[in-house]
Amino acid sequence: MQVIVLPDADAVGTYAGDLIADRAEAGTLSVLGVATGSSPLPVYEALERRASPAVRGLTAFALDEYVGLPIDHPESYHAVIEREVTVRLGLDPARVHVPDGLADDIEAAAAAYERAIVDAGGVDLQILGIGSTGHIGFNEPTSSFASRTRIKTLTPETRRDNARFFPSLDDVPLHCVTQGLGTIMDARSVLLVAFGAGKADAVAAAVEGPLTSMCPGSILQMHPNATVLVDEAAAAGL
Ligand code: GLP
Repeated sequence: MQVIVLPDADAVGTYAGDLIADRAEAGTLSVLGVATGSSPLPVYEALERRASPAVRGLTAFALDEYVGLPIDHPESYHAVIEREVTVRLGLDPARVHVPDGLADDIEAAAAAYERAIVDAGGVDLQILGIGSTGHIGFNEPTSSFASRTRIKTLTPETRRDNARFFPSLDDVPLHCVTQGLGTIMDARSVLLVAFGAGKADAVAAAVEGPLTSMCPGSILQMHPNATVLVDEAAAAGL
């Protein structure tokens, strides 16, 4: 695991955006795993500045989606990914995939999502944020390291963290569909970005703590090509 500490969120975004655009232009990255949350936003801003034909030609797979939220709800991950990734980078919407949180048969839709990733050739680089519980995607503590895309119950802490995007805590969905830790580990490279003092404990637990499903991000210690890009505040616990 490579840990790179940079002065601030802009520097992290620029570093990551340049790395992704360089690889897209060199032809070594065609399938990008994208994440929601505030952490990847500086990466998308930097990538927007580098939106060459190679970047615009990327295929993208999102990590997760709320269950039961209409896709035109502004906080559905369909809407967030469309706004922050598809439109910003000028991607072809037909090549941008988000798990289906509205399917009648979520299990079948999750299995189809896994197949779509494989059919696209697998994820070349997965962007990740990390939640205060140590979750990646929406894989909350106790998630199996072998898990695949599936329905999960959100922890009260994650619902409270994400309540800032909704009118009230009661409006935050109870369930989500998320790529599993096993799915994420299949990406050929992963890039975790985190900023601010609020992430210091989760970053320290994921990077230097014991390998444990109580901190799902710790599985990245086992990834052969994982990079953690943090600002100084998020690195404070290292
Ligand atoms: C949500 C997303 C995660 C993200 C996390 C942290 O729970 N499902 O993928 O990493 O939020 O969000 P933020 O970067 O806003 O702190």
